[in-house]
Amino acid sequence: MLMNDRILRAARRQPVDHVPVWFMRQAGRYQPEYRAVREKYTLMEICEHPEVCAEVTILPVKQLNVDAAILFSDIMTPLRAMGLGVDIVENVGPVFDRPFRTLKDVQSIPQLNAAEMVPYVLETIKILVRELEVPLLGFAGAPFTLASYMVEGRPTKDYRIVKTLMYSEPETWATLMEKLSDMVAAYLVDQINAGCHAVQLFDSWVGNLNRADYEQYVQPYMYRIVDAVKATGRPLIHFGVHTGHLLESMAATGADVVGVDWKEEIDRAWERIGYNHAVQGNLDPVAVFAPHDVMKAKVHDVLRRTEGRPGHIFNLGHGCMPQMKISDLQRVVEYVHAYDHKEGN
Ligand code: CP3
Repeated sequence: MLMNDRILRAARRQPVDHVPVWFMRQAGRYQPEYRAVREKYTLMEICEHPEVCAEVTILPVKQLNVDAAILFSDIMTPLRAMGLGVDIVENVGPVFDRPFRTLKDVQSIPQLNAAEMVPYVLETIKILVRELEVPLLGFAGAPFTLASYMVEGRPTKDYRIVKTLMYSEPETWATLMEKLSDMVAAYLVDQINAGCHAVQLFDSWVGNLNRADYEQYVQPYMYRIVDAVKATGRPLIHFGVHTGHLLESMAATGADVVGVDWKEEIDRAWERIGYNHAVQGNLDPVAVFAPHDVMKAKVHDVLRRTEGRPGHIFNLGHGCMPQMKISDLQRVVEYVHAYDHKEGN
């Protein structure tokens, strides 16, 4: 039974009694309990064991009193299950056995059949919707962010290889983006059909493109994802980092909620995104390490700027970090929940 649907109401820009909050990467190494599970299982093994995966998903919800759970998984989970040869290397990130760089490489990418290839993801979702009292968010990596890992073969600082391919090999790029956007659309709908109440599309690294490149090489493929999720009636959150210059274009894809990182003032960002969209963000993750009075002032600043307008989901501008303290994140949640827009504190 869903006792708390504030996140879903906010995503639809309906009024809420207080601003809902959750954190990207709210399950992770900052939790001793997570570290203990990781001593027994690799990241992917956690995902493959529904009972363990559900436990890891629920832990931060109980610990932090956040208003949503996010399925514990990774943006690489479907690609790995499709046999693309990717591993997540500790303190590095996703690494592919063999990068995807030619038309032939890209044509070899199979379709995702979620029921056959990631049955454990769907099973975990079913357990979670039975056990949770807050909404469950599903997620997927967006095509550009997935492509950046697939083409570079590993995390990159300059995106040289993937952008060179994008500029130089239009057929290869189009094939890759079509395949990935079809996969992501189907995967998000599969997660919704299994029970997820909303989904987030992580385009974490798309901010490395300028606006013209985003509109030419990425945006055309986003519509099929947004349209597929829209047809389910469930909200879609579209997130990226360092995307201040792309906010209007990301909103134009039709996503219900647009993520705003900490570099933008959320009031100005929302004005540009348009009040026909909800927004998510935008506390600087490093503010969690600040002295409590500074942290509180920064939380209040975000809330003051959104003025109690329906449609704000509080979050960090990016994910939780391994060095964070549970008690500090709990404090952020308390400040958000206790904030009174009329009083301004
Ligand atoms: O938010 C949640 O609690 C759900 C879990 C989640 C994970 N990955 C688990 C994970 C989510 C939403 C992701 C998404 C993800 N994965 C993104 C997009 C979000 C973002 O941060 O921008 C990206 C780019 C990845 C790829 C990835 N996976 C990276 C770069 C890393 C870090 C490598 C490292 O060791 O620092 C991972 C590993 C990963 N995925 C961890 C977790 C909790 C790290 C802890 C571990 O290895 O157990």
